[in-house]
Amino acid sequence: MTDTSDPTAIAVFGATGRMGQALVRVIRAEPRARLAAALVRGGSPSAGRAVPDVEASAREGDAGRYADRLDAAPAALIEFAGPDGFDAALELAVRHGSAFVSGSTGLSRSQLDALDAAAARIPVLWSANFSLGIAVLTELVRDAAAALADWDCEIVEAHHRHKRDAPSGTALALGRAAAEGRGVAFESVAAAASRSGERRDGEIGFAVVRGGDVVGEHSVCLLGAGERIELAHRATDRDIFARGAVRAALWLAGRAPGRYALQDLFAR
Ligand SMILES: NC(=O)c1ccc[n+]([C@@H]2O[C@H](COP(=O)([O-])OP(=O)(O)OC[C@H]3O[C@@H](n4cnc5c(N)ncnc54)[C@H](OP(=O)(O)O)[C@@H]3O)[C@@H](O)[C@H]2O)c1
Repeated sequence: MTDTSDPTAIAVFGATGRMGQALVRVIRAEPRARLAAALVRGGSPSAGRAVPDVEASAREGDAGRYADRLDAAPAALIEFAGPDGFDAALELAVRHGSAFVSGSTGLSRSQLDALDAAAARIPVLWSANFSLGIAVLTELVRDAAAALADWDCEIVEAHHRHKRDAPSGTALALGRAAAEGRGVAFESVAAAASRSGERRDGEIGFAVVRGGDVVGEHSVCLLGAGERIELAHRATDRDIFARGAVRAALWLAGRAPGRYALQDLFAR
């Protein structure tokens, strides 16, 4: 949808975070994009400092320095600032009429409602996981859970020690896909990660591992009598999420207001 002759101006909100830094790196390496702004929290000591990578900063239109305000409307704004930063990022995108790409997980019901409301004014795309591998895994899980509807389904996820929400947004999304495949409401079958006692029939369970620098691992186990299937995905490099989000921003910029999904990028 974007003009291929001019790089698409993309702002990154939460630019000093783990994902923010990956996004900056990926945008600067992408010829179809330029880093329109590297946004940090108001009053952050990083504001005004140079965004690392002097060579890239010399590129025409590159933001060069972290900023705590947005002076010109970017074609797209990407945020991975978590629930604490989400509201401010969405407000900024709506105010500037920018396409909004969000990867924050652990969002509240009211934040998800705000996303839907914003979709009446700007194009928005939220995903719990921007990796292509997880997009394919989700479809495999939906099909396998449907084919083996009476097998037990358990989802195990591992992440680095700083992750705040649990189970991960991706684990929940995989659970939803399994429930959809079985034609049941996710809320009625999802078990708490801290459950005790005997397993209920049809339950979808979650187990959480936190530690070290694990980027993200998800295993969906389908357990029958005498056999089991494990569908697994391991992310070893945070840039896969950043590449997916930048690809989504390039695709979303200039589209009509509405709520879009990552799968829309791959729709044939
Ligand atoms: N969808 C996916 O594919 C995917 C993949 C990986 C991670 N994630 C999610 O992305 C989010 C961020 O993860 P992370 O590991 O990058 O976290 P992180 O390292 O803690 O980074 C968060 C960034 O957001 C900034 N921020 C928070 N509140 C803000 C506010 N009100 N205004 C401006 N900036 C604000 C933080 O700034 P300060 O340092 O000033 O607080 C920090 O730079 C999490 O929700 C995580 O689960 C999603």
